[in-house]
Amino acid sequence: MTWKPTLLGICLVSLSACSPWTSPQAGRSLYDQNCVACHGADAQGGAQIPDLTMIAARAGGAYPQMRVLDKLDGYARGRVVYSDVEMPNFGDLLTGRLDRVQTDTGLSRPFPEKIIALEAYLRSIQR
Ligand code: HEC
Repeated sequence: MTWKPTLLGICLVSLSACSPWTSPQAGRSLYDQNCVACHGADAQGGAQIPDLTMIAARAGGAYPQMRVLDKLDGYARGRVVYSDVEMPNFGDLLTGRLDRVQTDTGLSRPFPEKIIALEAYLRSIQR
């Protein structure tokens, strides 16, 4: 077996883990550029800003991947987490290539690669 089928196998198992553009590391650098100002370098937020390391804990232990993707993609606009403060949308994060993410129902939905990377980073820092 050559490396190609193996890599394809990995990609099929984990669609969004294939690309360096959607990795948690890529998400970390997007986070540093766009999110630190409010959520903090440690992602633990503040008074009116949610702690992004506790998303799974707040959701009762089950990390809500689609909710996070929708929040970042702007679909969840208006559905605020904390009191009545709302997070701005980031048009630049919506530019560039799309990639598909598998949903719980077995279907897949397209999201911008930068959004997938940010979500992968957030998933990697849950406590
Ligand atoms: C201007 C300040 C600000 C910036 C910049 C910001 N956020 Fe937020 N964020 C908020 C506030 C306030 C909330 C809570 C209100 C809401 O849900 O809209 C929030 C909520 C969230 C949530 C929902 C948390 C949950 O428990 O569901 C996620 C995820 C999130 N932010 C991620 C990010 C990411 C990733 C970035 C960078 C691309 C970012 N935020 C940049 C202020 C900000």
